[in-house]
Amino acid sequence: MNKNRFTRLGFILAAAGSAVGLGNIWKFPYITGENGGGVFVMVYLLTVIFIGMSIFIAEVVLGSRVNKDSVSTVETLAPKSKKYWRYTGFTFLIGVIILSFYAIVVGWILNYIVIAATALPSSVSEAETVFLGLLKEDIVSQLIYYTLGFLIIAYTISKGIKKGIERLNNVLMPALLIILLCMFFYSMTLDGFHQAVEFMFYPNFEKFHASSIIIAVGHAFFTLSLGMATIITYSASLGKDVNIVKASISIVTLDTLIAIVSGLIIFAIVYSAGQEPSKGPGLVFITLPAIFYEMGSIGNLMAIAFFIALAFASITSSVSILEPTVMYLVERRKMSRTKATYGVSAFFYLLGVFALLSNTNEFSSALTFGSKNLFDWLDFVTAAILLPIGGIFVALFVGYIMDKNVVREALIPFMGEKFFAIWLFLIKYVAPLAIIIVMLNETGILKF
Ligand code: TRP
Repeated sequence: MNKNRFTRLGFILAAAGSAVGLGNIWKFPYITGENGGGVFVMVYLLTVIFIGMSIFIAEVVLGSRVNKDSVSTVETLAPKSKKYWRYTGFTFLIGVIILSFYAIVVGWILNYIVIAATALPSSVSEAETVFLGLLKEDIVSQLIYYTLGFLIIAYTISKGIKKGIERLNNVLMPALLIILLCMFFYSMTLDGFHQAVEFMFYPNFEKFHASSIIIAVGHAFFTLSLGMATIITYSASLGKDVNIVKASISIVTLDTLIAIVSGLIIFAIVYSAGQEPSKGPGLVFITLPAIFYEMGSIGNLMAIAFFIALAFASITSSVSILEPTVMYLVERRKMSRTKATYGVSAFFYLLGVFALLSNTNEFSSALTFGSKNLFDWLDFVTAAILLPIGGIFVALFVGYIMDKNVVREALIPFMGEKFFAIWLFLIKYVAPLAIIIVMLNETGILKF
């Protein structure tokens, strides 16, 4: 096997590193809070199992059949219509766009490690002032930490799959797991823990709406890193002998467990402080820091550990968002890895600077178009439109265009006829339909 490819464990850690990110620790807890807890968690689990997992497996099938960059992969697997498939390169644009706002959040997190270590805000209102001050006024700090995050990401990618990405994940992923486990055990000792368990697993239909289902589908997608060739690209390292079904199940399970454990930790802390869980996106940057302060020195430690965990999770994800484009440029355009990395990074870095400025008071009016500023547009266009298109494409390509025998050969040995039939049904009908409904809703064409 090529020297610059993951080992089997390296693949699992890197793919899990990609999947486990801001989606799990930041977003999942607050959307669970906003959508009523238990029922939402149930629906989310169903969407992960039936839609997320089936597309995840499809992406791994694609990547592991050809062992090349994602565009060459689809070209090789559908030779008759080869000339059209180069346009699948549009997925690279998605990566650049996602990273330009994702890396800004990485910057906030790095800044919050310092805040956690030096001066936690002493009340929720002070925490709000600190966060909004950073977001809306403090361009310099945001740029410094954003640049720092960007350099870590680009440096890792420039070192390649083995020496860069695999090494990074081999260190950061176990560290992340240890930090989260320690925090989890501690949170079990808090008064609010049983309320957190009840909130996350007891069905409460009050805040649950049809739109919650849509949010669950969209999130299942984002959290598993689907729809933009990330998983295809990482799976290009896998030999045909690897049990891709087992590997996919482990990665998806780990991602789901981490989301649930993060939710329990955060809600146990929130309940113990006598607060309510439905706090929206500010949960991590406003509510939690204030609670950590109240907890005294253990809170300080928890805050540092928590933001370090978030940093680790988001950096390993960022790396995976950039790699598909870089791998394409290296393999297809014969660019050197260093050149490809810094070229692509410069592009996303600049776009990100504009996105960052669009949140600030000084530049927001110049960078707001219609109802949203640039930062929100980038988030919206990728999550609501581009990633779903990428996902539908994977489902249709594997379900209808690829040679049936190749798909069967890839999966039958690892899942048997019965599960294969179920998976194929999900890929051909259920997943595309569900994603189309999500898209129509998110873009406002059809409102639930
Ligand atoms: N899954 C990551 C998270 O939960 C984000 C991410 C990484 C991603 N790579 C991706 C999302 C590719 C969509 C596509 O934070």
